[in-house]
Amino acid sequence: MTAPDSDLTIDPEALRRRAETALRTARDRTHTLTTCVDEPDLTAQHSPLMSPLVWDLAHIGNQEEQWLLRAVGGRDALRPEIDSIYDAFEHPRAERPALPLLAPAEARGYVHEVRGRVLDILERIELRGAPLVDAGFAFGMIAQHEQQHDETMLITHQLRRGPAALTAPPPPAADGAALSEEVLIPGGPFTMGTSAEPWALDNERPAHRRLVPAFHLDTTPVTNGAYERFIADGGYTERRWWTADGWAYIQEHGLTAPLFWRREGGQWLRRRFGVTEPVPPEEPVVHVSWYEADAYARWAGRRLPTEEEWEKAARHDPESGRSRRYPWGDEDPTPAHANLGQRHLRPAAAGSYPRGASPLGVRQLIGDVWEWTSSDFLPYPGFRAFPYREYSEVFFGPSHKVLRGGSFAVDEVACRGTFRNWDLPVRRQIFSGFRTARDAS
Ligand SMILES: [Fe+2]
Repeated sequence: MTAPDSDLTIDPEALRRRAETALRTARDRTHTLTTCVDEPDLTAQHSPLMSPLVWDLAHIGNQEEQWLLRAVGGRDALRPEIDSIYDAFEHPRAERPALPLLAPAEARGYVHEVRGRVLDILERIELRGAPLVDAGFAFGMIAQHEQQHDETMLITHQLRRGPAALTAPPPPAADGAALSEEVLIPGGPFTMGTSAEPWALDNERPAHRRLVPAFHLDTTPVTNGAYERFIADGGYTERRWWTADGWAYIQEHGLTAPLFWRREGGQWLRRRFGVTEPVPPEEPVVHVSWYEADAYARWAGRRLPTEEEWEKAARHDPESGRSRRYPWGDEDPTPAHANLGQRHLRPAAAGSYPRGASPLGVRQLIGDVWEWTSSDFLPYPGFRAFPYREYSEVFFGPSHKVLRGGSFAVDEVACRGTFRNWDLPVRRQIFSGFRTARDAS
């Protein structure tokens, strides 16, 4: 008999400190992302796909006010008149620049005031009882929300024209070990999702058993070098590799390479956070849509992994039969395990992070690039929307594909083996890559 799920019992004081650290870490990053450019840059819309940075900033504070000050703390509303301006469902991104947004200084003052009151509540509140406060859930949810907007803001920085505003050291090099191209994941049941992780979001719940037949999975994400071979072999000009929708989309938009790539002097260049550089062949490819990932896999004689295949490769420990939090075990990620948290502004070369490998030797499942899977975003059996339908439930269905594993732009608080991201198959401004799979028989 195997244990059903990770066993996580954390004492309330440790949870309080964890919540405080998660909130502070998120705020430090928000500060970096919103102080490295000037005011006109903060209020400009750099792409119709994105909000002005100053919208994200005040939206972060407004969500924190609504959930932690009002819902959890029972305090009176601080700025109820701005709720509608910062309601993501009421205003699509393209129309946000026309709203009467708080100016940068006012937005900074607002998020600072909310945070001061929230830390006061966190010191006093008992982190048990109602589902919203139990194990500090709402604090974890809001820290994750801020980090997710920090990732969104990093995408805005990538889309922004002009000189570089952000810098970071390069990620560690690959360890040079000879890796097999793929890893066999034996067939059998495993536990998918979680009922134990205290800050897991509704769509990751509950833990349940899934039978996954044996399959082979790429040891690392697909690299730029491999992707260049797909392009050179007519990948974008041969209809047979593409789904009907994908082919129509690349024809309509004239796509011939990943976003931010351009061909010059016989080589591929890319623009990355304001710097133009040759595309490094050893790095995982990033900024590809689901359509492109799917076409590449077909060209390679393979397919994208399903979401359950990905999670089994990332969490199942063949020795104990248990599903763990991460490929390397249950301990939180460190800089030696994975490329997370905007510590570096690029994915690490394929074959990096040996300490982050799974028991069977699959590498870089966590961090580096989000990985497209073949799966639609659907609820698990027994799913219950919490704390609001708009978190996940309204996105379930065939229009969104699941991405797994997080990217270099994701903080560890919003990244675990069970974490599910979803997006439209056309999206490629996100930090998305993929790896491929094939049936074992
Ligand atoms: Fe949001």
